[in-house]
Amino acid sequence: MMQTLIHQNIQSFRAGRQNGKTLALVPTMGALHEGHLNLVRLAQQKADEIVVSIFVNPTQFAPHEDFASYPRTLDEDLAKLNELNVDHVYVPDVHDLYPAGPRTTVKPGLIASKLEGQYRPHFFDGVATVVNKLISGLGPDIAIFGEKDFQQLMVVREMVEDCRLPCQIVGAPTMREDDGLAMSSRNQYLDQEERAKAVGLHATLLDLRSRLRSGSLPVAQAPVFGAQMLLQSGFEKVDYVNLVDLPDLDNARTYKPGQRLLAAAWLGSTRLIDNIEV
Ligand code: PAJ
Repeated sequence: MMQTLIHQNIQSFRAGRQNGKTLALVPTMGALHEGHLNLVRLAQQKADEIVVSIFVNPTQFAPHEDFASYPRTLDEDLAKLNELNVDHVYVPDVHDLYPAGPRTTVKPGLIASKLEGQYRPHFFDGVATVVNKLISGLGPDIAIFGEKDFQQLMVVREMVEDCRLPCQIVGAPTMREDDGLAMSSRNQYLDQEERAKAVGLHATLLDLRSRLRSGSLPVAQAPVFGAQMLLQSGFEKVDYVNLVDLPDLDNARTYKPGQRLLAAAWLGSTRLIDNIEV
């Protein structure tokens, strides 16, 4: 069996690369689950060589957020990637990606100020900056992102286009637990009671979608109706439930197939997000 090569800096990665082979990148923050591993399998179908990055990126967390407590399970992660015969894993320390600390940043456009951007204003600057560094440093032909973080996928697409990075961005479908909960590293924060309630997020999105499709729920009422459903299923606070047009993520005025329904809500101190195509 092939051995996965582990690199702590960009130079080591470049030296270990097989020239002439196409490369796919799967950026992650580790605590790998089946959702991540599915991106890895897709990457393997799309390129000769693949690199998975594992880096809990400090610049996308606000001071009050969970950077310190974010799950770090490097040994298990490496075992999973080795099992899948991943060619390269890039596990930088903060100095490799931010040699001078947080200095030059990439500021995404308007799209980043909507939805998540309203509640986590720092977040997409951090994501766009680190993804730009990963793509320009590692030089992949393609990079794969999950639809689980749908707005992130759209922000990254725009950043790559605007910065003229020669890399194709590929989206991959959301992987879910048997009861529909979208897999997420943050699901580990949920206690048993919260985990039982968490299913309400996907269930609410599915319910709203069928009401929108049948015309029984006017589009203008979807956010408030959706929030009520989430509160009834045990969520304590709802940040948003929005039906949006693509690709700008502006609030939809009328229902059209192909739009996206996105939601973010809290169970205790855990914030969950999910989205579906409607
Ligand atoms: P992380 O949350 O670790 O996610 C890494 C990638 O896995 C992202 O593209 C995310 O959308 C995808 N992913 C997570 N859960 C998924 C699921 N249930 N189904 C399908 N894909 C899923 O997203 C990040 O890290 C970071 O913001 C990053 C892009 C690495 C930049 O730091």
